[in-house]
Parts: sequence; structure tokens; C-alpha cells
Amino acid sequence: MSETEYGPATTAIHVGQEPDPITGAVLPSPVLATTFVMDEPGIPRAGYDYSRSGNPTRDLFGQTLAALEHGERGFALPSGLAAEDLLLRVLTRPGDSAVFSADVYGGTFRLFTQVFAAEGRTARPVGAGLAQIKEALEEIRPAVLWLETPSNPQLDIIDIAQAAQAAHQVGALLVVDNTFASPALQQPLTLGADVVVHSTTKSIGGHSDLVGGAIVTAAHARLPKGRTGVSGSKSIAEEVAYWQNATGCVASPQDAWLASRGLKTLAVRVQQANASALKIAQALKELPGVKQVIYPGLPEHRGHETAKKQMSGFGAVVAFRVDSPKAARAICKRTKLFALAVSLGSVESLIEQPASMTHATKADDETAIPEDLIRLAVGLEDVEDLIADLKQAIG
Ligand SMILES: Cc1ncc(COP(=O)(O)O)c(C=O)c1O
Repeated sequence: MSETEYGPATTAIHVGQEPDPITGAVLPSPVLATTFVMDEPGIPRAGYDYSRSGNPTRDLFGQTLAALEHGERGFALPSGLAAEDLLLRVLTRPGDSAVFSADVYGGTFRLFTQVFAAEGRTARPVGAGLAQIKEALEEIRPAVLWLETPSNPQLDIIDIAQAAQAAHQVGALLVVDNTFASPALQQPLTLGADVVVHSTTKSIGGHSDLVGGAIVTAAHARLPKGRTGVSGSKSIAEEVAYWQNATGCVASPQDAWLASRGLKTLAVRVQQANASALKIAQALKELPGVKQVIYPGLPEHRGHETAKKQMSGFGAVVAFRVDSPKAARAICKRTKLFALAVSLGSVESLIEQPASMTHATKADDETAIPEDLIRLAVGLEDVEDLIADLKQAIG
């Protein structure tokens, strides 16, 4: 059986994670060295000369993640936002525009509307409906269509295959932020996306002990038509590698190693958290004071059928709306197991009010998150305990 035929759990444990050929250690240790000896000036012994330019631990993580995403190359960056920023700089030039999912992470929204826009580029948010996306693509003819599916925090689901087709028809590249699903549930590159980005801070790391990001490119991924990168290449992967070295936007070996460790248990963690999330979503529906439960695994969710088609599970984030913003704030303060904190995808369950926390940056925008919405990031505790905690907090 070849590496490309392995299932995702086997891939995560074995691809790029061979035993050390010298010591026999069953997994590669992190290579913390800053610099590497040369036998001849300018001729690195094993291809590495300086850890900003290339580091074996970072490369091995990239190899494993690329295999899981069915991409060509994977890159480890210092945070999810750093990955997004570097990718947008690679894919666009002043004068270019982007269309992005309206319901994105607050930091991504800020990146597009403030940083990206301040540099002579324009960015327009778009709803999750395919008709809306097509209309925006036709009107703006952007260089990039940037989607989050499931989206943060309202869990919109967008049909990736159809969006890819629509983007390519107008010459736009499709980037998917796959943080919420992770490669354990969804592989956008197999559905036609050109590039995937991740906050590895979330379920890939999985233990709330690292901040990291990643970019994975499809084999076919080329810069927008007619454009050659500053590296002299038209390949997005080569351009990302060049920019990482040129701008120093690299993950530390320690963080890349932790992310590789996280990948090995990703499949089982995600499976367990998905099962709990579904039970929690069902239990919430029965609680007084809960106006609406938003979870793609519920048959009444707008994107349920699309999620079933393109994902192998529905994720570990559940959102719900309560009677008032005041009630939402009170519930967030009353849970004992769900910690009141931003982030998601870890072993411990978290609760937050996006309007005042992760998405406060879009408070004054028309895409602002309702203040009565609560986001749960479901972890790996016993689900009965989590449900009991929510019951006592919601009252
Ligand atoms: C969907 C999504 N993408 C990107 C990011 C940014 O990642 P980071 O916090 O690692 O910079 C986040 C952070 O919450 C996120 O939820």
C-alpha cells in the first residue's frame, strides 16, 4: 500500500513522521538548531542552511498536513492570521480585490477590511448563498474568493465545489479557511479549491498550547493569470516558500512539532467532539430560553444537506441564541466546565459571546454578530457533564 492510499488516521501518524534513521526513535524529534553546517561554502549538507529559510520539523509538519488535505505542499506559519496575511500578499497586488465570506472570524474580517484595504486593495463581504457569491464574482471579478465553511461563528455552509467552479469562471482563485472542519472532516482541495489555510491553534494543535497557522496548496495552484511572483515563479507554493524566507514569516520548530503531534490524534478527537456536539445541540433545543440552535448536523440547518455532501462530520462548534444579550452574558459567566474564553478545537470546552469577544471588531458593521448569540467549542469531557453544565447555566 502506498502513502497516497492510507486513510487519514494512518496518514497523520506515518506520513512525514518516519522513525529517526540514526537513533531509531519512533518519531522525529524537533530540530531546534538555528543553523546547519556546510561541507563546502554555500553547499548545505542536507539542504538546510538556516532555520528561517528552512527547518526539517516545519517541513515534516507541512508534508503531513499536505497529505491529509490532498495538497501538494504544506507550510507552517506563526499564526492563522499570519498565514492569511502572507497568502493574501502572495495572491494579490495593489488594485486587486477580494470577495470574502461575510461570516468570517473577526480577525479575518479586520484583515480584509482594514489592513488589506489600507494597501490599495478592496474587499467585499458576501453571504453564504451561491447566488449571492456568483453575483459578487460577476460584478467584482476579484483575484480571490475567500470562504469559511463552516463559518465562524454562525456556521454557514457553502458548497465548495460549486463555489470553485463559479470562482474559476471569472478567473478568481478559491481559498478556503478549513479551520472549523479540519482535514479530518473536509478536504477543500479535492473539491476544486486552490489553497487551504488553517489556524493550527485550533483543532490541529488541539490542546490550547500553541499559536500557529498553515497554508496548503493544490498541485495545480498558480498565481492569477498573467502574473509572475517576486520569486520569478508562477507557482503559488514556490511563491509562498519564497515569501516565508524573505519576510521571516515562519512557525518555530517547537510549534510545528506540537502541531505534528496534534495531527496524530486529530481524527479521534474530532470524531469524539462531533458526537458530543450533536448531543449538545439536540439537548439545547429542549431548554427554555434557547430561541435557536445552530449546528450543521441538525436536519433543520440551512446547510445540512451540503454539509452532508462535503463533510464527513459536522464539527465541534455549536451556536445558539437566547432571549437577550443580557441573558447571553449571564449564561457565559455561569458555566463551570465550559471556560469563558475565545478559541476552539481543544480538549477543554469553551463558551463565549462572539459579539463582545472574537467578533468585537465587526461590532459596528452590518455583518455584526447578534449579541444574544453564544458560541460553544465542544471539547472531550464526558458529554453528560457538559450538558448538565449548560442546563444549570441556562436555568
Ligand atoms: C476560522 C478562523 N480562521 C483563522 C483564525 C486566526 O487564527 P490565529 O488566532 O491562529 O491567528 C481563527 C481564530 O480564531 C479562526 O477561528
